Amino acid sequence: MTANRKGRIIVAANIERLASESADLFRRIAIESVTRSGRFSVALSGGSNPRPFHRLLADEPYRSGIPWAQTHIFWVDERLVPADDPASNFGTARNDFLARLPIQRSHVHPMCSDKPPPRAADDYQRTLGTHFGVDAAGAPVFDLVVLGIGIDGHTASIFPGDRTAVETDRWVVAVTGGSPNVARLTLTLPVLERARYVIFLVSGRQKAATVHTIITGDTSLPPRQIAPAGGMVTWLLDRDAAYLLPAGLDGVGPAIV
Ligand code: 6PG
Repeated sequence: MTANRKGRIIVAANIERLASESADLFRRIAIESVTRSGRFSVALSGGSNPRPFHRLLADEPYRSGIPWAQTHIFWVDERLVPADDPASNFGTARNDFLARLPIQRSHVHPMCSDKPPPRAADDYQRTLGTHFGVDAAGAPVFDLVVLGIGIDGHTASIFPGDRTAVETDRWVVAVTGGSPNVARLTLTLPVLERARYVIFLVSGRQKAATVHTIITGDTSLPPRQIAPAGGMVTWLLDRDAAYLLPAGLDGVGPAIV
């Protein structure tokens, strides 16, 4: 963890504990952000790993304990498919929890999926500029970004070896790749690493070798490049995803919960 100076690793005993730890942290950061600035701006990922956590957000105590009226939900990335396609990150989140939340429709900011990718990227970039009150000279600062990782070491839709979302001044770019291998939008690395809090939420034994490589070794993979100067990176893992990690990583964990 030497690249991420302010980092920690939390290992949950099972998937249920991982979901509740994630929801607790989400609630803490939401309350702190609203106290600090009057609102909470979060960007969520798709994929399967965050789904139990997402579902929990619409259950008590999170449904009433999170300041939803002051919360704005964005996406880290999106597969450019219709919202009712099972591959849609927004559509999945809507079914999993958004539809059950007391949140205003205008506070939910899906990445548009019915325009050509470069225009959809421009649209989302404008959405971010308006929400954060910044122009091209500035950059959005999310309170929280929740990321996953792929077995190949990607995060968001930033794939190893593809510099499109890395060496750029843009906040949102169109890319192709991943599974499903479709056109996608993704927030860029410069935006992700400005977030005040970054959570990597990872479960499952099939990710253990990748988690080990990223955390202990390969600093070239996208997740390791997200090393916010002023923010905090938390790895929230279940035991299966963490089982290859050595004990005592630079004093940052793992803490077993
Ligand atoms: C997306 C993502 C992606 C995801 C990882 C892990 O493809 O939409 O946001 O970065 O987080 O691929 O996905 P799983 O949780 O399904 O393994």
